[in-house]
This record gives sequence, C-alpha cells and structure tokens, in this order.
Amino acid sequence: MQTSYSAYTSPVQYDNMSDDESDSCSMSGSFSASGKASSVTTADWEMRSASPGPSVFSIGSSLRVNAYRHEYGRGLNNYSEVYRLPADDEELDRLDKQHIMFKEVMGAYPPPLYEALANTPGVHKSCVDLGCGSGSWILDVARDFPHCTAVAVDLVPMQVLFFDCRNMPPNCRSEVDDVNLGLQHFYNEFEVSHARLVSSGIRDYAGFVDQISMTLKPGGLVDLTEFDFRVYGLDKRPIPIDDRASAIARWMHLAHQAVQQQGGEPDAANHLYEWVRNHNAYEQPVYRHWWFQTSTWNRGTDPESRRQNRYGAAMRDDILAFLKSGRPLLLGTGVPEQILDDLEDRARNELIEGRVPGYILVENVYARKRR
Ligand SMILES: C[S@@+](CC[C@H](N)C(=O)[O-])C[C@H]1O[C@@H](n2cnc3c(N)ncnc32)[C@H](O)[C@@H]1O
Repeated sequence: MQTSYSAYTSPVQYDNMSDDESDSCSMSGSFSASGKASSVTTADWEMRSASPGPSVFSIGSSLRVNAYRHEYGRGLNNYSEVYRLPADDEELDRLDKQHIMFKEVMGAYPPPLYEALANTPGVHKSCVDLGCGSGSWILDVARDFPHCTAVAVDLVPMQVLFFDCRNMPPNCRSEVDDVNLGLQHFYNEFEVSHARLVSSGIRDYAGFVDQISMTLKPGGLVDLTEFDFRVYGLDKRPIPIDDRASAIARWMHLAHQAVQQQGGEPDAANHLYEWVRNHNAYEQPVYRHWWFQTSTWNRGTDPESRRQNRYGAAMRDDILAFLKSGRPLLLGTGVPEQILDDLEDRARNELIEGRVPGYILVENVYARKRR
C-alpha cells in the first residue's frame, strides 16, 4: 500500500548491558544462541526443530550480543523481522510502568485465573506468558502462585536474568522463542495461557488463538489483551485520519500502517472476541474493554473525572515513551525522518498540554478450554 504523508505535515487544528557481564542463570530457547531465526508464517511451523523439548543454555556474552541489534539508537531483538519495537532498558522500563497502570485499572488477573491456578493437592499447575516483555505479569504470577510453574516466552531473554538472578522466582523460567513458529512444544501443558500487547509481532493472530488452545489443558484459561494502534475521539469512534486529526492520532495511524507493513496484526484487538467465540475449543468467552484518556484533557472536577485524568497522566507518559519506541519501526518502514520528527514534536506537545481529547481502547478476552 502506498503511504501518503501529506496528512502528517499539516498543522494540528485543536487549541546496557555489558557483554562480558556473565551470570549463572539458565534459560531455555528454541533458537540457537548464535543463529538468527526469521519469522515465518504459521504454515511453516514444521520448520522448527523436531525436538519437542527446548534446549537449555547459560546466558553468556554471545547470547547477549546475538539476541540484540541496534537501529536508530535503540536496541531491538535480533530474531524477528515482524516485531520492530525495542527490547532495551528504556522500553522495558516503559512496559513495567504500563503494567502498573494496567493492574490498577484492569485488575491483576481475569477473575477465573484464581481458580485456574489454585493450589490443588496432587495437581501441578503451570502458566505461560507469550511475549512477556519485561516479565512483569509473569513474575507477579510466579510470586502470587508459588506452587505453579511460570513460563516466560519472548524473542529475547527476560532481563532479570541478565542483571540479578536473585529476582527470578525459583518457579519461573524464561524461554527465547518466536511464537509465530508454533507452540507444539507446549501442547497440553498449561492451566493458563496469557498474551498481552503482542499483536505487532504476530503474523497470524487467529492461528495464534488456535495454537494457544492446544497449549491449554482441558478447562484451562486463555487470556488475551490487545490495543489496536488507533486513537478514538470523544464519540468513542476512531478519529478519521486527515489533516484535521490530532498529531497523536496521525502518529498512531503511521504506527498502525508500519506494523501491518512488517507483517504484524495491528487490528487483532478488534477481532479477539470473534476469534475466541468461534473457536470450537473454547467456551464461556468473556469480552472486556477499557478506555484510557490519552492525556489529562478531562476538564471535569468530579471524582470520576479526576480519576480518569490520573490514568490519563499515566497513559500520556506511556505514549510519550512509545513515541520514542516507535522510531525504529517507523523510520525502518520508510517514514521520512523530518516528517516523523515534526509529527512527534506536535504529538508530544499535544500530550503535555493535555487539551486535545482522545482515547486509547484496550480490549481483553478470556475463555475456558472445553473439557
Ligand atoms: C509491547 S511488548 C508487551 C510485553 C508484555 N506482554 C506486557 O504486556 O508488558 C510485546 C512483547 O512481545 C514480544 N513478542 C512480539 N512478537 C513475538 C513473537 N512472535 N514471539 C515471541 N515474542 C514476541 C516482544 O519481544 C515484546 O517483548
């Protein structure tokens, strides 16, 4: 698709890690520590090693060097051609803060998770986080449910392994893997399979939903949360992208296009419920969604408006960091640097001034696997 950047130049209408550092943590991976695996479609799942059990290796300097590449001043994973957001300290810090915001607004877990992971004599329970990022969610699970095995999967090793193994709960393990390659090695293993905000790295999200069903034991819980790379207006409809649109809406639209261009599924959030509800393996699907103000634009003085502004401030800071995170993705897909710089400046000012209304929509679906 040809991208026109004319809408992005118009004015807004509204008022390190060191390589020799080594530790004794171990983790598992489906890639070779020195090799580079490219993402493939779900039709190519059989390309992965026939061995169902992942190999285990120590985290040393070669893995660190080979796990990352540097582009446009940021550290990115070195494996996936699809996922082009950073995996560096700055991004992990953003994800940690975002996790705290989500927890406060959305709750720590979907309600059935407590029962799914409850300590049951004679039953060993396991939970996986597919695309765990900094690991904040799965580390919570490992600590809250110490009788469970908690598995963290991502394109890069979980950072806690690099810096302080002592913060890694003994019941948690990190696996380096591209979930686009399929999840056969996890079939029938988990009481809970969770993924949050991974759509930009997933080639075939409906196929991913299908693969996740196979990872669950009967009665197991799937828990998916995504956002759709759009900014919504006061009418809770996507802001039309033209030269009257806010800079943050136009920036997000560029990010949406770039994710699509890289082979990810930026619209997955909008289809989660349909994919889960129409899948034979699942039952009792539940859809939830949350509207986050993009900034502190709410002029109300009542307690609810003040509460929304508090979350709006957290989301604003998240988006401010996300503007920086998106640079390798946007520049790498051909957005001219000058146009991006200009749009970023406008979006940053808009967010900081807090006068332009906008919402981010976060969608969640959970369901049980039929027994
Ligand atoms: C935006 S972050 C979200 C991290 C975490 N789920 C959270 O909610 O804080 C997306 C994460 O998914 C990982 N990811 C994206 N595509 C992936 C894939 N195909 N296989 C494994 N991990 C993937 C990325 O490396 C990144 O850490």
